[in-house]
Amino acid sequence: MKIALAADHGGFALKESIAKLLHSLGHEVADMGCHSLQSVDYPDYADLVAAAITAGKSDSGILICGTGIGMSIAANRHRKIRAAICHDEYTARKSREHNNANILCLGARVIGEGVAVELVKVWLATSFAGGRHQQRIDKYSEG
Ligand code: RB5
Repeated sequence: MKIALAADHGGFALKESIAKLLHSLGHEVADMGCHSLQSVDYPDYADLVAAAITAGKSDSGILICGTGIGMSIAANRHRKIRAAICHDEYTARKSREHNNANILCLGARVIGEGVAVELVKVWLATSFAGGRHQQRIDKYSEG
């Protein structure tokens, strides 16, 4: 799978770990930054990942900031994006089954690396259930 990955300074360290995980799982990773701990603005990175998915260059995305909140709000301003902030396996699974989330948002200051790794694995391994859930998604999102 082609996965677009980005973080702000709050999520930079976790992004590095998640990039290694994704490579080890055989995914093609587009690392869109940031590339250091220097302070940056999270919406710029949310826009990069959202644009890659909207253009069909990436299948899905992972965005990481301090809380995951800013990234999810910014990414969801894009019509084709369904960004889900998840802090536990249940919501990670449901965000795929029910919401067909195409971006997973993580809060690096909220969860540890071990939990984040499990969430990413669950999220990537779970498929959209379709049916009545597609009918609901059609009311707020494209594609
Ligand atoms: C940056 O300090 C922090 O505001 C950002 O990473 C994120 O948590 C915003 O939602």
